[in-house]
Order: sequence, then structure tokens, then C-alpha cells
Amino acid sequence: MKRPLTQMGIVAAILALTLSLHYQILPLPEGLHHVLHAGDLHRRLCYVPIILGALWFGLRGGLAVAAVLAAAVAPLAWRFEGPLFSNPDFVETLFYLALGLLTGLLVTAKERERRNKERLERELAASERLAALGRASAGIAHEVRTPLGSLQGATEILGEDFPEGHPRRAFYDILVKECRRLGRVVDDFLDLGRPLVLLPRECRVAELLGHASDGARLLAEERKVSLEMVPGGAPETVVADPDRVTQALVNLLRNAIQASPEASSVTLTCSQSAGRVEFTVSDAGPGIPEGDEERIFEPFFTGRREGTGLGLPLARQVAHAHGGTLVGRNGPGGGARFTLALPLRREGAP
Ligand SMILES: Nc1ncnc2c1ncn2[C@@H]1O[C@H](COP(=O)(O)OP(=O)(O)O)[C@@H](O)[C@H]1O
Ligand SMILES: [Mg+2]
Repeated sequence: MKRPLTQMGIVAAILALTLSLHYQILPLPEGLHHVLHAGDLHRRLCYVPIILGALWFGLRGGLAVAAVLAAAVAPLAWRFEGPLFSNPDFVETLFYLALGLLTGLLVTAKERERRNKERLERELAASERLAALGRASAGIAHEVRTPLGSLQGATEILGEDFPEGHPRRAFYDILVKECRRLGRVVDDFLDLGRPLVLLPRECRVAELLGHASDGARLLAEERKVSLEMVPGGAPETVVADPDRVTQALVNLLRNAIQASPEASSVTLTCSQSAGRVEFTVSDAGPGIPEGDEERIFEPFFTGRREGTGLGLPLARQVAHAHGGTLVGRNGPGGGARFTLALPLRREGAP
């Protein structure tokens, strides 16, 4: 607050000085006034406050100082008799305005460039931090993967000692369920961190739908949500990596089931449009919160207490690897609607 006031003071002081030279009110010896006016120095001196105004306050500052000067020398310009463009005060006024405009524009552009550079530097520093964090987490995930595999193996063997009806079976079930969940999180995390290698082949769309519903059936039963597969006008086949596409569809179906109220249904429809096959998962849940349509695809963004925020980014990674898209919107009658669109043929593929 203090600095702009000082700067305004300096500009105002130089302005006052130049104007008092124009009107010869500064108590200078007559000879000196004569020299200043003969050399047009009183007019040249006006450039200084204009440039300072633009430098310190941008376009508005430059133009404001130029306008004040123009208004202040207007009575002098008015007194001149003769053709307009041989009127030195009028011509000089045009220069003032042009100078204010030009320096203001230059300073504003420079300032914008500086802010952009600062923003990019901040973003770069943040992404470097994130990359380092990502590498560290990937290392931890790798370390967790191996003992987790052993844990899962050992749990399966223990299953024989805790058959259905055993008083401790419930604890055993928790062990299996949580090991599986942890395994999925670690796998998803590792998948997200490396480039996807696709193994595309011609696969039957009906089979993809079947596998996807198999992968989500258990959760649907637990949540008492019915799953409906509608092949619609789907093509017979599509060239894609069936495991990855199934994984993406299962992620979408699981999210839809998790968001669905009991006794509602989740629908997976499939259709063909403009050389693409479109899989759409719709539910009757609360829908995507307004403004979160893109954020939900960011890794680790989750709206669920038990969520990891990896399902949607992985599904989108699968879509992009196929040259396709994945978007989530709310349906016209409420609920969310996610559409995974894949090209029918992969570019470069026969
Ligand atoms: N069908 C849906 N309806 C409402 N919100 C959804 C739906 N699918 C995803 N979301 C939102 O997007 C978030 C991220 O989803 P996801 O990446 O699969 O991670 P997670 O399921 O582990 O939370 C979810 O937590 C949820 O808030
Ligand atoms: Mg999910």
C-alpha cells in the first residue's frame, strides 16, 4: 500500500513540474524558461511521468497520466491560431496518448509473461515433487506386492481349517476379503504408474459384456442391485484388448453399483456410432457432484470412505490407450452415466 502511494506521489510531482514549466509558473530566471521552451524541453519532460505511470501502474496508469497531461495542456493548444497539425501542443498531446498506450501495452504484456512464467515454475516444482512421491510410492507398492502374494497363498491354505460354519469363519472371511482388496489397490496403483501395453485382438462384444457383468456380479448381489446388459445396436466384434476393456467396464459397473440405492438397477448398454463402439453404464444413484466431472478422473480423487480413487483414472487410461474416450455425465433423469467409446478398428491395425 505504501509503495504505490510513493510512486503516485513521484508521478504527480513530475507532472506538476512539467505543467508549471508549460505555464511558466515555476520561479525560474526568464532566460532559463526561454532556453527550455526554445528546445521544447518542457514537452519532452512530459514523457517521463507517462513512462513511469505505465511502468508502475500498467496500461491504465500510462493512459491516465497521458490524459491528465492532454487535459492540462488543452488551454495552451486552444490558444494557438493556425492549422491543427502545425499546433505543437495538439501534436504533442497525440504523442502523449500514443506513448501512454504503447508503454502501457508493453508493460502489461511483460507483466502477463512474468506471471505466466512464475505459474509454470510453480507447477513444475509441484509436478517434480509429485513425481518423486510417485516413484517412492511405486517402490513401496512393489515391496508390498510380494509379501501380499504370500499372504494370499497362505490364507487360501488356511481355508481348509475354517470351513463354513466354523466359529471363526467370519474372521477368516475378513482376512480373505481384505487381502483381496489390498491386492487390487496395489495392482491398480502399479498399473496406473506404467504405460499400458495392449494385447489387442478381434473380440466379441457379447463376451466383453458377459465378462464385465461376471466381474461385478458379486458386488451387485451384496448391494441388492440388479445388473442389466443391453447389447442394443452393438457391432458383433471390436478390435481391443479384452482383459483391459473388461477391467475398465468392471470399474465403471462397480462404481455405479456402489452409488446405487438398494433395489435399483445398473444398466450397461452397447451401441455403435461413427466407427466407434460405445459402452454406457447408467445408474440411479445421486450422480456426479456438479463441477467434479473431470476431477473424478484424477488419481486418488475419491468420494467414498473406502475408495482409492484409482478406478476411473485406470479406466480412462485403458480408453486412451485404445484411441478412445471415457466421459462421465449425469443422465437426464438423474443418476450418473459413463460412456466408454472405442474405435471399432485400431489405427494401423489391419
Ligand atoms: N456412478 C457414479 N455415481 C456417482 N459418483 C461416482 C460414480 N462413479 C464414480 N463416482 C465418483 O468418482 C469417484 C472416483 O471413482 P474411482 O476413481 O472409481 O475411485 P473410488 O471408486 O475408489 O472412489 C468416486 O469416489 C465417486 O465419488
Ligand atoms: Mg471405483
